[in-house]
Order: sequence, then structure tokens, then C-alpha cells
Amino acid sequence: MYKFQTNTNSLGDINKLNHHEILNTCPRLSEYIRLSVLDEIDSTNNWILRNLSQLAFDDNALSVVVAEFQTNGRGRQGRVWHADPGNCLTFSVLKSFTKDVAKLSGLSLVIGLAIIRTLKSLFTVDFKLKWPNDVLFQKKKLAGVLIDIKRTINDQTYAVIGIGINFHLAESIKRILDQQSTDLFEITGYHINRNYVLGILLSELRNILEDYEAFGFQHFRAEWIGCHAYEGYPVTLVLANGETIDGTVDGISDSGALNLITSIGRRTFYIGDISVRLKSSI
Ligand code: BTN
Repeated sequence: MYKFQTNTNSLGDINKLNHHEILNTCPRLSEYIRLSVLDEIDSTNNWILRNLSQLAFDDNALSVVVAEFQTNGRGRQGRVWHADPGNCLTFSVLKSFTKDVAKLSGLSLVIGLAIIRTLKSLFTVDFKLKWPNDVLFQKKKLAGVLIDIKRTINDQTYAVIGIGINFHLAESIKRILDQQSTDLFEITGYHINRNYVLGILLSELRNILEDYEAFGFQHFRAEWIGCHAYEGYPVTLVLANGETIDGTVDGISDSGALNLITSIGRRTFYIGDISVRLKSSI
């Protein structure tokens, strides 16, 4: 089930985040990652947004911030990202693009894929994606992605890519979550070393972002559909305005939009305030 040794420390359950340990996970990681490790912050995405002008000067490296605890972790669609100190991997990556915002529509899907690739390389477990970018195990949420986009005057577009992965959630947190969630401890039975997973994931993120810049989302489309938990399933889409749309999932477009076969024909939904819920009959 798992392919590497875990460590515990005086905190019992967890490893403290460690700058050196993270950057030593993969060869040459320190050459292309500028890493900040924080004990506590409101939100790692907010931290990057506040410090954008200082962080953005080095286009050859990815700026990354990881925090033990977020006091105001943000989820998609204005939701709160709940996690207790130390038992979740909460981090953000700053990536600049010369592409227009409109051309970045598949970005969040590709990030979900990077998480899946990383987890599958570490655990022989069938992780899945839920459009646009939730990572699931047996239909329960394991990880989520929140991307904030900022365009600056020099026509560079900055994406703040925030990722949260559950490692060992307290029961008290699980009870307040608005959807069924899981964590790596529940899945594997082991306390997984966050430093190690983060190092591997940063290396994968760098590779996948390079390929995404070069080839666009269509390069990943078939792989993404192969990982989709709900491909071919009847689902209900909930739009931002609360409207619901029933249909059967029929692939993803070249730009990362969701195709649904509905009662009035095939319709395409772009990344935005749309979420997917499996019909209760499934
Ligand atoms: C979601 O599934 O709703 C997205 C969750 C994203 C959470 C991460 S944790 C690190 C980063 N900082 C935040 O405030 N949010 C993202």
C-alpha cells in the first residue's frame, strides 16, 4: 500500500514542516523552488498575493509558501478550507504566464492531475478526480485546489495555485466539513511524512506546468478523463446562482470545460462557479 518509510516526532502524529527536508527530497529542487515555511498565516494564497511584487522578480524559480496552520484557509466558491494545525499540507505556488487569463482555463484541472500523479507514484491506491479539480478517494474528498489569478501592468499573468491535502484530520474537523472527506492516514493506515510528499509534488508541479505552458490542456485531456470519477455518470451540476442541471458526463473539452448530455442536448460548462454532485441514486 505504501512505498516509503514514515517518521513521527515529538508531536506524536506528525512531522514538523522542514525547509531542508522538503528541498532534499528530489535532486536540484532547491535550484528552481524558492521556499518559505511558516508556522501560522491567514492563508498561503493571501500571503503570496500580499507579497507578489517581491516574489515575482524571479521568473526562473517557483515561489512556494507552506504553512503548518492557516487561520483563514480559503476554499473554492467562497467556502472555508478547514484543517487543524499540522495535519494537513497547505501550500501555495506562484507561477507567472505570458498567456492571457482566458487561455488558462485548463490550469486548475492540470494541477489536480499533478496531485494524482504524485499520490499514485507513492501509494498503490486508486485516487480519482472530480471536475474541475477535487482529488477523491472512494468518492470522499482528499485534496482541493484554489487558484487566484492576478494580471499586472506588464501583461504578465500571475497564478497563485493553492493546494490543500488532508493527512490526518481530527474527527471534530471532519464533522464540520460540508462534504464527505478523507485523509491519507485513513486511506493508508500510516502517518505520512508531509515534507516528503511536498517535495515530490513540487517536482511534479514543475514538470506539469512546463508541459502545460508548452502544449496546453489538450495534451492532458485523455489522461484527465481517465482519472475522472464521474465520466459517463449521471450527475447534477450546481451553478453559482443555485440553478441545477442534470446530465450525464461526456468528457472534457480541449480547454477543460465539462461536457454534459442533458435533456436538451449536449452542453458545455466552463470552469467557474460550478460544482458536481453525484445523484443520490448512484
Ligand atoms: C477547495 O477544494 O475548495 C480548494 C481548497 C484549497 C485550499 C488551499 S490550502 C492552501 C491554499 N490557501 C488557501 O487559503 N487555500 C488553499
